[in-house]
Amino acid sequence: MMLDRLSHQAPDALLALIRLYAADPREDKIDLGVGVYRTEEGATPVFAAIKAAEQRLVDTQDSKSYLGPEGDMGFVNALMPYLFGSDPTMGGRISGMQTPGGTGAVRLALALAQKARVKRVHMGVPSWPNHAQILADLGMELAPFNHANADGTANLDGVLAAINGAGADEAVLLHACCHNPSGIDYTADQWDALAEAFAASGTFPIIDSAYQGLGHGMEEDAAGMRTLLAKVPEAFIAYSCDKNFGQYRDRVGAFYVMAKEPGGLDTAFSNANALARAAWSMPPDHGGAAVRIILRDPDMTKLWLAELDTMRARMRSVRDALATAGRAGRIDLTPLGRQNGLFAMLPVSKEEVATLREEHGIYMAASGRINIAGLTNANLPKFIAALAAVAV
Ligand code: LMR
Repeated sequence: MMLDRLSHQAPDALLALIRLYAADPREDKIDLGVGVYRTEEGATPVFAAIKAAEQRLVDTQDSKSYLGPEGDMGFVNALMPYLFGSDPTMGGRISGMQTPGGTGAVRLALALAQKARVKRVHMGVPSWPNHAQILADLGMELAPFNHANADGTANLDGVLAAINGAGADEAVLLHACCHNPSGIDYTADQWDALAEAFAASGTFPIIDSAYQGLGHGMEEDAAGMRTLLAKVPEAFIAYSCDKNFGQYRDRVGAFYVMAKEPGGLDTAFSNANALARAAWSMPPDHGGAAVRIILRDPDMTKLWLAELDTMRARMRSVRDALATAGRAGRIDLTPLGRQNGLFAMLPVSKEEVATLREEHGIYMAASGRINIAGLTNANLPKFIAALAAVAV
C-alpha cells in the first residue's frame, strides 16, 4: 500500500511536551516548556489591546473576501517604524508582506534565499529547533557555529568567522533579540562588529525577530538589527507578532526584504508572492488586522505598549530572582540575570531533564531550555530546590 511507504516521524519534541504536561495530574507541576508568556498566575491572557481591536474589527469589517498573497499591507506597513525606525523604508529600499506567523516568515525567507541560489546557511547553535527543521525540509545545508561562550556571553569570534568565511551561495541567520533558546544577545559593540563584517564580506544576512519588546523595549530590541541594516546593501527580516502581541495561535507574522536599490524589491517580491501562493496562498487575516487597528490608534498603541511593559518587567523580576538565588546545585544562575527574553539554557543533561519531569513535575525542553515566564514567586523556591537536588 502507498501509505506503507511512509516511515513514522517523532512528534515535534517541544509541542509533545504540551501534551505531556497537560496529562500530568500533579497540582504543583511547573511548565517551563513551549515559549508562551505567562502571568504570575500562570495564565496566557489575550492582551486587552487585542480584545479591543478585535471588537472594533468585528464591528467594522464588511467583507472577508480574499486579499492577495501579500496579506494586509496596512498591517505590514504599520509595523515598519517599530522595526526600522524613523525612515522605515530606508529610502524605499525595504518592503514587506504578511506571513502565517514567524514560522511562515522564516520559511519564506529561506525559500527565497534558496531561489537566489543560497545553498548553505550559517547559524549559531543551539537555535530554535524549527530553524534546522525548515532548512532540512527545503534541502538546504546548515553550517552551525557555537552561539554562546561557557560564561553566558555571545561567542563573537564564532559568528565573525561564519560571516567572514561565507561564500556567495551562503547566508548567515541571526536572531534580532532575546535569543531562543539561550537569552544571550549580542551587545551594541558586538552588533557594530557584525555590521562591519557583513559590510566588508558581502555575506547575506537573514534576521529572525520573534521577540521584539520582550528584552529591553521595542526600540532597544531593534537597535542591533538597525545597526546592521544601516551598513549592508541587502537583508531579509522574518518577524513574529505571536509573542509581543500575544497572538500565538492566530499566526501573525511578516517578511521584509531590504534591497540595494528601491528597484530591486519588485523582482524579490514577485518571487516571494509566488512562493507564498504555492505554499499557503495567503496568510490568515484576523490577527494582523487587529495589530493594524492597534498601531493606527494612539490610545490602543499606548495600552498595548503598557501591557508589553508589564510582561517584560515580570520576566526581568524572575531573572533577578534567579540571579539573586546564585546557585542551584552545580548550576550558576547569575548569568540568567544578564540575559533577555523568554528563554535561558541550563547546563543539564537529558537524563536530568527527565528526572526533573518525572520526580518533580518540572517540564522543560530536552535541551535544558527553560521558559522564564513559567516561573513565579510561588513556584520559584520549588524549582530551585529541585534543580539543586538533581544537578548536584
Ligand atoms: C518556542 O520556541 O517555544 C516558540 O517559538 C514556539 C514554537 O513554535 O516553537
